[in-house]
Amino acid sequence: MSDGIEGVRDHYRATGLTGRLKTALAPLGPEDQRLTPQQLAALDHFHTRGLLATAELSKLAAIASDAAVLDVGSGVGGPARFVAATFGCQVTGVDLSEPFVDAARYLTERTGQGGQVSFQTASALELPFDHGRFDVVLLQHVAMNIADRAGLYREIRRVLKPGGRFATYDAVLKGGEPHYPVPWARTPATSFLLSAEATRVAIEEAGFRALVFQDDSETANAWFAKVRAAGPPPSPNLGVVMGPEFAQLTTNLAKNIAEGRIGILTAVFEAVSTNA
Ligand SMILES: C[S@@+](CC[C@H](N)C(=O)[O-])C[C@H]1O[C@@H](n2cnc3c(N)ncnc32)[C@H](O)[C@@H]1O
Repeated sequence: MSDGIEGVRDHYRATGLTGRLKTALAPLGPEDQRLTPQQLAALDHFHTRGLLATAELSKLAAIASDAAVLDVGSGVGGPARFVAATFGCQVTGVDLSEPFVDAARYLTERTGQGGQVSFQTASALELPFDHGRFDVVLLQHVAMNIADRAGLYREIRRVLKPGGRFATYDAVLKGGEPHYPVPWARTPATSFLLSAEATRVAIEEAGFRALVFQDDSETANAWFAKVRAAGPPPSPNLGVVMGPEFAQLTTNLAKNIAEGRIGILTAVFEAVSTNA
């Protein structure tokens, strides 16, 4: 079976992304004027419920100011910048997509957080870090792009200190075939959803114990209803990152959640000793 990784890279190719961001952000002020993470929030948290979800997950992860935090599949870096600004810690992001990493570095320059937040291009399945380097690992809306879940969670466990925390927020398979395209995949060929329970088993088998495990599908459903009622989102938004079809992809995700095909899982795990 294909691991889909080339298809995933294609999906997030985002040619010319940094240039598009420069243009979209121009109305907010000149290049040398600092932007706040809040000003970027509509375009740099690439997951259901955006900034709200990052704030909730990072709070559940109980991040200390001296923690070393890794954000796996960091996108254009909104979650990493938010966590650094909120908790005062150092954050490293890794992402498969080079244009996303370039964009994340550019936006981090614009917020003046270069001393606290950095990004590298790398696969979640081969993290370029030593064993036990991080206190906390975040993973938001990434696992559904990864076929080798055992490998993913093993790699996350490897880079965490014993007792470290792994906080994940992801789409999971619920009751039926999803409608495609969705924001992470145009077809099922690059979508590797597991049920919430299968996700939990895969994570625990990698050497983790669950601290928090909650179904946030209803919260997501209510949020999508509110967003629909509010009308078009403020500009600039994630359409700049993913193109004009992004609205359609998001509509499909909302429909999948409303119809109970896809669920939203929030979970925090503690790294325990493995037998390996
Ligand atoms: C939906 S976006 C979420 C981005 C970010 N976590 C956020 O919430 O703003 C999914 C991200 O996962 C990245 N990704 C997918 N598969 C990956 C892999 N195998 N290794 C590293 N990053 C990956 C994509 O490039 C993309 O940036």
